[in-house]
Amino acid sequence: MCGIIGYSGHRPAIPMIMDGLRRLEYRGYDSAGVAFVQNKRLETIRAQGKLDQLAAKIKASDAAHATTGLGHTRWATHGLPTEDNAHPHRDSGSHLALVHNGIIENYSSLKRELQSQGVSFSSQTDTEVLVHLISGFLNQGQDIPQAIKSTLDRVDGSYALAVINVHNPEEIWAARHSSPLILGLGTGENYVASDIPAFLPYTREVVFLEDRELVRITPSSWQVFDLRSMQEVDKTPQHISWDVQAAQKGGYRHFMLKEIMEQPEVIRDCTSGRIDPEQGSVVLEEIQDLPIPEVLHIVACGTSYHAGLWAKYLFEKWAQIPVQVDIASEFRYRSPILRKQDLVLTISQSGETADTLAGQRIAAEQGVKVLGLCNVLGSSVARESDAVIYTQAGPEISVASTKAMCSQMVALLLIALDWGRKRSFLSSDFVRRAVAGLSDLPQVMQAALPGMQDRASRLAQDFSRARSFFYLGRGMYTPLAMEGALKLKEISYIHAEGYAAGEMKHGPIALIDADFPTFALAPADELLPKLQANLQEVQARGGPILALTHPGSGVDISPVWEVPQVWGPLNSFLFLPALQLFAYEMAVYLGKDVDQPRNLAKSVTVE
Ligand code: G6P
Repeated sequence: MCGIIGYSGHRPAIPMIMDGLRRLEYRGYDSAGVAFVQNKRLETIRAQGKLDQLAAKIKASDAAHATTGLGHTRWATHGLPTEDNAHPHRDSGSHLALVHNGIIENYSSLKRELQSQGVSFSSQTDTEVLVHLISGFLNQGQDIPQAIKSTLDRVDGSYALAVINVHNPEEIWAARHSSPLILGLGTGENYVASDIPAFLPYTREVVFLEDRELVRITPSSWQVFDLRSMQEVDKTPQHISWDVQAAQKGGYRHFMLKEIMEQPEVIRDCTSGRIDPEQGSVVLEEIQDLPIPEVLHIVACGTSYHAGLWAKYLFEKWAQIPVQVDIASEFRYRSPILRKQDLVLTISQSGETADTLAGQRIAAEQGVKVLGLCNVLGSSVARESDAVIYTQAGPEISVASTKAMCSQMVALLLIALDWGRKRSFLSSDFVRRAVAGLSDLPQVMQAALPGMQDRASRLAQDFSRARSFFYLGRGMYTPLAMEGALKLKEISYIHAEGYAAGEMKHGPIALIDADFPTFALAPADELLPKLQANLQEVQARGGPILALTHPGSGVDISPVWEVPQVWGPLNSFLFLPALQLFAYEMAVYLGKDVDQPRNLAKSVTVE
């Protein structure tokens, strides 16, 4: 999704802004731009493509003196990723420049209205209406904050926006509704950004803005206002303890690989303080006040949705709680039957996914409690939930989600254990075994990962000519098969489908031939004989198979890929990195942009 940074301070603004934009690159973007006021003139420089293109244009211009400015990376929603559509956008008189993240839903009618008043547009974006509306209200004699308020009162949709103006070159105004915006506080300099990493090397003091808040920053001051009453709001800055290093590649070729390799640590961090290996118990303080639901509704998107599908098996088996798992964009537009005794569990790495947030708002409107599972402190999902469990995976930079899913699965497994024990469906011995397995898991995984990467690399080469793949699993390995297929699609652009193995014969098997390989998830569990029967059906039609399995499973297929076997459902945690590494090695072998795959965004804050 789009990235925003605004800087008002004492240093040259453009290098600060470019630096911030580079740290927002992971969000995915297709064009970028900056705006600043210099020699009493408002300047904008914009470029299609990567930041290097923008940097080259900036170098060829004179932007050395501005100490206030805005930067933006755009992920196209309305209009092609061209320079004209790149932000910042200006009003007709070049008094204002504006950047925006979100979607203005009623922009066409606003645009028609403005055009009928003689305003001409220079882009196809929804954003451009904002700058012309503000300009119109200024021309009617309103001051900047009032003109922004009047504009936003006319707008439906979501926004995080920031504005600079030629008359007060040290001032930035910014506002948010349903898109993240954070204030960074320095000494003699202040920031607004869509995401903390944008200014993390310069300040750790932040203020999270709420929906419908307006902020003004100058080098030496900041104020927040409620956009409804225009009264000033008291805000308390928070200290962020993230390590900047944690957001860097740490010697790996790609963030994705680093994040896959971090999973042992992620399991340790996510279980830390939540399991007591001495007592063999689970302690989840965060949900102690939440009643155990009669029905659990899990709502999520993408990889987080797969984590939810996976957890359904545990909640139903261990805690005997009926579970519905919904893709958030579907949940919000059907009529889900939610009762007061139910719970909606939203899963979101970023905590800002628009559809997931909408799902949780529907639950809140109906008086149903919401438990948020997310990775980003102070994110919208976290702030709008009745209870929140942080997955503690650290910042995930690679667009393709890996360690976040691992952490979500750990947290979900802990909740299922907690509820299963409380409802007396699990014995204390069972929980003790699970906790012991969890506390040993990081070590087992750490030892296995380097060998897994080597194997993944060789297998990826062997299968690199395939243009389509099936991923088959049974039981809780079906959602993992779906995740394996999603990873392959996302970063190597090879078509892949994750399927329940038993469902293959009802249609998809028609696709099988010698060029259509199957990646089989074949753990040594009670469903293995059933899976093997399905694999024979594939073999009988000449389909090549790669089987991920356990030593001694008896799977008679070539090639097999064996990973160490651990206790019960914890085996999923060793299958997951195998799937991730296979997709990663395939994408590397095929020369793809692993960390920033085409057309994808890390955090999808629009519908
Ligand atoms: C985007 C990302 C996916 C992610 C999904 C849900 O599509 O590219 O990797 O799984 O959003 O994101 P969330 O932050 O809500 O988990």
